[in-house]
Amino acid sequence: MAIREVLKMGDPRLLAVAEPIAKFGTPELDALLVDMRDTMRDLDGAGLAAPQIGVGLRVVIFGFESNPRYPEADSVPYTVLINPVLTPLGEQQDEGWEGCLSVPGMRGLVPRYRELRYTGFDEGGRPIDRTVKDFHARVVQHEVDHLDGVLYPRRIRDLSQFGFTDAMFPGEDITDD
Ligand code: NI
Repeated sequence: MAIREVLKMGDPRLLAVAEPIAKFGTPELDALLVDMRDTMRDLDGAGLAAPQIGVGLRVVIFGFESNPRYPEADSVPYTVLINPVLTPLGEQQDEGWEGCLSVPGMRGLVPRYRELRYTGFDEGGRPIDRTVKDFHARVVQHEVDHLDGVLYPRRIRDLSQFGFTDAMFPGEDITDD
């Protein structure tokens, strides 16, 4: 197990479209998932996508009981999601504040579908099929964007709502580094 370096915005590897996983239950996939979990937890991330540690595969992890980066958010179960497919349910989008371990120290107001269904596979190739909403739905959309080379600043509609966390939320105890 190892804490891996998280690539920062500007690195071209974050702009690439990741490849699907073809084989489940391999030692390589298990090792990748251990490194991703260690790295996410070390940085208090709400989620992490494999491309963020330089691995161009369609693998994301997310979930937390409580998170100092998002103190208001409801808990999300720890999830390994491979080859995900998202289907928005309804047209409704909400604006919400997001950060990203690849864009350290910053926050932006990002529109996301309020409710969606996601399907995919866990590390053993077992199917996952969930219908979720609110912050859980937001986290999934953020992480799956990473698999298509999209970082959240590209989703922001009003760039006046994008800036450094400590400048935008002075005095609030939001961990972000
Ligand atoms: Ni991110």
